Amino acid sequence: MKKILSLILLCVCTALFAACGNAASSQTTQQIAVLRTEKTTEDIETIVSDEDKSIPEVTVSADKTAETPVNPESNTLVIYFSRTGNTEKIAKYLIELTGADSYVIEAVVPYSDADIEYSNDSCRANKEQNDKSVRPEIANPISSIDSYDTIFLGYPIWWGQEPRIIDTFLESYDFSDKTVIPFCTSGSSGISTSEANIKALVPIGKQLEGKRFSADATKDEVKEWYDTLLLNEGNEDMKMKLSINGKDLTVSLADTTAAKELSEKLKTEPVTVILNEYGGFEKVGDLPWSLTKTDESIVTEAGDIMLYQGNQMTIFYDSNSWNYTKLGHIDNITQKELKAILGDGNVTVTLSY
Ligand SMILES: Cc1cc2nc3c(=O)[nH]c(=O)nc-3n(C[C@H](O)[C@H](O)[C@H](O)COP(=O)(O)O)c2cc1C
Repeated sequence: MKKILSLILLCVCTALFAACGNAASSQTTQQIAVLRTEKTTEDIETIVSDEDKSIPEVTVSADKTAETPVNPESNTLVIYFSRTGNTEKIAKYLIELTGADSYVIEAVVPYSDADIEYSNDSCRANKEQNDKSVRPEIANPISSIDSYDTIFLGYPIWWGQEPRIIDTFLESYDFSDKTVIPFCTSGSSGISTSEANIKALVPIGKQLEGKRFSADATKDEVKEWYDTLLLNEGNEDMKMKLSINGKDLTVSLADTTAAKELSEKLKTEPVTVILNEYGGFEKVGDLPWSLTKTDESIVTEAGDIMLYQGNQMTIFYDSNSWNYTKLGHIDNITQKELKAILGDGNVTVTLSY
């Protein structure tokens, strides 16, 4: 019973963490209410069952340290932090699939079981997650990441976000010419808040869309994700244009199947859609076709473009928390500018390649 209560608390706090992390102080009471009601009993049961399966099962051995690069040909590095082995398992699948070198992030002061007892408010992990400025020191830091172009960065979700030791790692190296691909494991929380945190923390050459895995994800699932990455193709041309009320905007498309399908369709001809005002945070309307849904729990930001229910497009001018498939994000626009362009009511939008 105590565990169930503490996990309910975990869910509520995760939603609040997400709300605070992404929407900061601009959230209205109504929007926070939307975020708070995001988790259903079903979600909580998922966390309970996933946590029961995952947390106590595997323990990363205490003597695990940075691994020496083994493949001089590899320009890919898989880096991960894993306290109970779930993220490590996914990382090892990736290493097998890519032949990449690997590096394990370890804390100078290792995290004990008591340190990650999240039902205890004052456990180390909870205190660290509550303070964005904490930077736990890394044992055996890797000397250089210069010889790598592509870096997979894996971690567990702690209170909706990346553990603070991931921030220590990111601030210790130069990623400005690297491609970084985050991945995580969690009971049920999505990866998007941690992705936004990573993006905001340090300059990164290119940050590809990350992926959240469950503790029991298989090697096939990891391979399926790996195969969809555009690592070798470059995604510079993954752009579309939006014309709204006489203004032309550029959208960077996401690394999702739906965004790729949309891009292909727009290469044939432009499409005009009517978007209706909804909820004080979005404009939403029907697309002429369905696209592949790969929904995840997302806290939106102004400028985000999402696929909703597989056949509707939404443009967000404010934050909401729900399950969506990412289509893209409008480049170089403030929330104020976007609101002014979209206006108060329904709006006609032309999408082109
Ligand atoms: C301190 C702490 C906080 C956690 N917070 C969340 C959370 O907000 N959402 C969630 O879905 N899972 C949460 N979890 C569960 C972990 O994300 C999950 O068990 C993960 O797979 C552990 O990865 P690891 O074995 O690589 O350490 C939390 C676990 C701990 C220890």
